[in-house]
Amino acid sequence: MKKTLCCENIHRMLCLFAAAGMMTGCAAYTPVDKTPSKIRIGVTLYDEYDTFLGELMQCFNQDVFAKQSEGGPEITVNMYGASRNQAIQNDQVKEMINNDCDVLCVNLVDRTAPTEIIDFARSAGIPVIFFNRELVEEDLLQWDQLYYVGADAFQSGTMQGELAVDAIRSQNGDKNGDGSIQYIMLEGEAGHQDAIVRSENSANRMVELGVKLDKLGYGIANWNQAQAETKMNQFIDQYGSDIELVLANNDEMALGAIAACKSQNIPEKDRPIILGIDGTKTGLQAVKDGEMYGTVFNDSAGQAQAMFDLAYQLATTGTTDGITLKDGKYIRLDYQKITRDNVDDFIKGSRSAQ
Ligand code: GAL
Repeated sequence: MKKTLCCENIHRMLCLFAAAGMMTGCAAYTPVDKTPSKIRIGVTLYDEYDTFLGELMQCFNQDVFAKQSEGGPEITVNMYGASRNQAIQNDQVKEMINNDCDVLCVNLVDRTAPTEIIDFARSAGIPVIFFNRELVEEDLLQWDQLYYVGADAFQSGTMQGELAVDAIRSQNGDKNGDGSIQYIMLEGEAGHQDAIVRSENSANRMVELGVKLDKLGYGIANWNQAQAETKMNQFIDQYGSDIELVLANNDEMALGAIAACKSQNIPEKDRPIILGIDGTKTGLQAVKDGEMYGTVFNDSAGQAQAMFDLAYQLATTGTTDGITLKDGKYIRLDYQKITRDNVDDFIKGSRSAQ
């Protein structure tokens, strides 16, 4: 009985990724009486088509299955995709509260606009775990039942800068021999903490390590491969083989840069060095194939597990007992550098790659 219900719940979650245009996610859920033997977790994503978050949620689903198979309370997950619209997400939060969710996991559309969600949750007394899109600390301090799970963007930028320096030194990256590295920055979203901090720190770290940089341009591609490919095509048209390095805020955009080089028939030896961040399934494959020099592992499985453990604890006990939180609020997972030398460990170990 438990297993069947659990499968239905997982089906509800997976339908988010399978169906197009799902503004209201799996809203057809029929609430049942809440008893101490059942818990309900509400999740809303800023964009149901984001690759990294898709992999994170696959891991989250696995965590739900694993916990459910140990017995304990029956776990239901209500999952929504907000289609990059904060007003839609606010409505989804109201709906999750009306559906009697015990805890909410919110991947904000606009990380500067969490107040309405916080107000709804506080009036209903339901804790909120924000994840991946980090709100400012003042907002997280608005109520003692607010938490954040993510990673330290500063660390990812620094590691990407270090990988870029290794690549330049080991692969004769200064192709035109002018003593500087001509580069393009492909940025995530305007105003996103990871985009701002990664862009700044990867370049700064390279300069700290003694590399002279010459920025040819930057393009905002919203974490998206197709948008990055379009931007990169424009840069190739403008600068051709002068581009020696592409620093992309995530793997999807690095893959877009690779696709542009391929579509313009640039021979491999003449392509810029390209670096991403995330270590998604396709990102890891591009590193293995030698098309991307390296990436920085954004631990989707670790973040999913941390979020699930915290949500479970809050929903079952109303406490955070046994969970390590920085300042009583934060869980941040470490990033790791990935190159061809260690990529197989990540491909093997990656739960999202299964
Ligand atoms: C970043 C991740 C990106 C994208 C973004 C969405 O941490 O590197 O690929 O998923 O989050 O907020």
